[in-house]
Amino acid sequence: MSSSSHSHSHSSSILLTRVVLLLVFLHFSLLFVTNVTGTHLHHNHPHHTHSSDKIINLPGQPKVGFQQFAGYVTVDQKKHKSLFYYFVEAEIDPSSKPLVLWLNGGPGCSSLGVGAFSENGPFRPKGNILVKNEHSWNREANMLYLETPVGVGFSYSIDPTGYDAVGDAVTARDNLVFLRRWFNKFPQYKHRDLFITGESYAGHYIPQLANLMVQFNKKEKVFNLKGVALGNPVLEFATDFNSRAEYFWSHGLVSDLTYKMFTKSCNYSRYVSEYYRGYVSPVCSKVMRQVGRETSKFVDKYDVTLDVCMSSVLSQSKIISPQEQNGESIDVCIEDETVNYLNRQDVRKALHARLVNVRQWAVCSNILDYQLLDVEIPTITVVGSLVKNGIPVLVYSGDQDSVIPLTGSRTLVHQLAVKLKLNTTTPYRVWFAGEQVGGWTESYGNILSFATVRGAAHEVPYSQPARSLVLFKSFLDSRPLPEML
Ligand SMILES: *[C@@H]1O[C@H](CO)[C@@H](O)[C@H](O)[C@H]1NC(C)=O
Ligand SMILES: *[C@@H]1O[C@H](CO)[C@@H](O)[C@H](O)[C@H]1NC(C)=O
Repeated sequence: MSSSSHSHSHSSSILLTRVVLLLVFLHFSLLFVTNVTGTHLHHNHPHHTHSSDKIINLPGQPKVGFQQFAGYVTVDQKKHKSLFYYFVEAEIDPSSKPLVLWLNGGPGCSSLGVGAFSENGPFRPKGNILVKNEHSWNREANMLYLETPVGVGFSYSIDPTGYDAVGDAVTARDNLVFLRRWFNKFPQYKHRDLFITGESYAGHYIPQLANLMVQFNKKEKVFNLKGVALGNPVLEFATDFNSRAEYFWSHGLVSDLTYKMFTKSCNYSRYVSEYYRGYVSPVCSKVMRQVGRETSKFVDKYDVTLDVCMSSVLSQSKIISPQEQNGESIDVCIEDETVNYLNRQDVRKALHARLVNVRQWAVCSNILDYQLLDVEIPTITVVGSLVKNGIPVLVYSGDQDSVIPLTGSRTLVHQLAVKLKLNTTTPYRVWFAGEQVGGWTESYGNILSFATVRGAAHEVPYSQPARSLVLFKSFLDSRPLPEML
């Protein structure tokens, strides 16, 4: 036993050295190829419709070999509704890589500020410059970040009634229109393999958008949709929210007594449901005050291992998960690099972005009037219909998140598999990222999968960039997660 584990660790350290050398080698040779390909594409490009959206250079960015684009697509001429996108081509050989649409949640939070600039995009702001993210998802795909619905980030409606009563249905329709018209700008991506990924409230946005695509394809095959991946998603409001009590309790954030109250007297789904209807019952108010007092505001609910809030990436969860606190809420994030960066005038200019009806770019919209009761629409059933239509779905969970805990998501996926009579194709097991366990996974019928990401927050690519990239690559290749070192 000890001798085998010794030789095992010995050979893996050799392997590691080789891998590192290989990567260094690949890195240099591929940089060269990228430059050549980039030049080639630039000169012989058959379509020029998107050329005005090309980003010459983002202020403070390091030199890179891939192209970036940003701009607007009008989704409603009457109300002058335009959605803003940021598109990053793959680092290497973009024409052979799939197209991936990324959506953040909220509802009403920005895929540009959260997804692209804090999670899985190529750069992260640091002071006045942009630092390269070595685990950017554009290593594996062409990444399209969409600020949706109107009122989010740089997306706008000139007619302010465009911000009223926006809900899941309008958002899905606008997103569909966006993508169809975006393909007119980038026709070379029209028939490319398409994946949709995102997190949190995108558990609502994505299944509903994918469902519209599947319906649309029945009339006219337009979307080459190959799969959907949902990170810490809201899929069924009661199951997701009520798994929170046990998560708090099992991680020592609340006492036995409070746990009992939080399940028996007033559970979290009841509280949120009352809160959104504008009336919180005395019993729920009492329970939530107790829960708030014990959990405290100095532990990050989106990653319970962290001391205080990490950054504005966390704002998106504040909306789906209101929590009663004692007195005013303190923002422990004093400085936010992304907010500062995206509010620079030179950055806005480089992104071809405009501020319409707002004075500042914000992580989450304060102009949008979203129909928050839509959170109660169960989208797990929509996921079921996607699977029945042959679309692979991966649900993954950062396992340190208490906002949408892994336990609720795992239960929902398992129940769906039973309902669809899908047999287990990968029994629950660990998966590896590099030399360590990246998390656990289980698959059903080779089409529906669940995975955890070990040590990850609500925003998985933010807190576990390397593990998230392994997960992302397996998902794109529709392969089970790595089984061994
Ligand atoms: C949550 O509370 C509601 C209302 O009291 C109840 O209908 C529901 O069954 C509860 N859910 C759980 C998981 O306890
Ligand atoms: C699932 O497993 C059962 C029992 O082993 C088997 O009878 C059935 O054919 C399997 N279904 C599929 C779709 O493979």
